[in-house]
Amino acid sequence: MALYSEKVMDHFRNPRNVGKLDDADGIGEVGNAKCGDIMKIYLKIENDVIADVKFNTFGCGSAIASSSMATELIKGKPISEALELTNKAVAEALDGLPAHKLHCSVLAEEAIRAAIKDYYDKNGIAYDKAMFPDPHDEEEHGFEEE
Ligand code: FES
Repeated sequence: MALYSEKVMDHFRNPRNVGKLDDADGIGEVGNAKCGDIMKIYLKIENDVIADVKFNTFGCGSAIASSSMATELIKGKPISEALELTNKAVAEALDGLPAHKLHCSVLAEEAIRAAIKDYYDKNGIAYDKAMFPDPHDEEEHGFEEE
């Protein structure tokens, strides 16, 4: 069996929505410290709807395919729906990812959420902080208290 589904290969070879939005309303950048991959998502928001979305991903093929699929899944959707997009839904839409590549789809989920949070912050829109847990809070930072 092939390692990657045809959909993964298609979105990797012909990624949708690649690029940058100069007039983005929200920008989210996330990275994975272990593999070093970085994903940046730009959102144009009109009337609480994702009117346009672009991404730039410096990373592996699965991260590119995940960003491409995730942008397709949220384009034209209300913010509330984009916030509900899970990495699982992205991986399923790609007809699956190998287990050791699931974290690539997590980056897509995190980048979208970070971009929406950025939009809320820039526009002074109130939100429940619990909606945006810092994914790194649970990690060991290695700081020592004196
Ligand atoms: Fe890290 Fe794909 S290997 S995002």
